[in-house]
Amino acid sequence: MTSMTRRRFLGQVGRASGCLACAGVLPVGLGGCASVPWASYERTGSRITLPLSAFDDTDGVLLDLPDRPAPLYVHRAAGIDGEERFTAVLTLCMHQGCTAAPQGSRIVCPCHGSEYAQDGTLLRGPSERDLIRFPATVTDERVWIHLNGVEDG
Ligand code: FES
Repeated sequence: MTSMTRRRFLGQVGRASGCLACAGVLPVGLGGCASVPWASYERTGSRITLPLSAFDDTDGVLLDLPDRPAPLYVHRAAGIDGEERFTAVLTLCMHQGCTAAPQGSRIVCPCHGSEYAQDGTLLRGPSERDLIRFPATVTDERVWIHLNGVEDG
């Protein structure tokens, strides 16, 4: 599978949901569908960093990685100890490789309906595997994602 551009991804999500805003026909926010913002990032080799401020108005952002087959979804959640935790998952569905999209509290594949939690844990098939997850840490007001360190699902 080749890398997917942001426009193609938005179009796929929009077609799957029937949402013109998600399809890029209307400005996002006017169509009434959930939208996840795209964030800018810096990359050095397999390390990606983005500022914590990217999460000022959202708990999840998408990153367009040209060398990956689907966008990366980075999500912030509160742990049971109250500390913020970040997860980074590739939105490549583990069933047959469609691009899944964050929708509410889940990541949903438009092709055959597999659903994943925001940390990539499989919730509903036909997929039989979690999404690919990368380690994410926070240091110096930045989120660090390590693309060469795939975590077990
Ligand atoms: Fe995602 Fe089939 S490719 S459910």
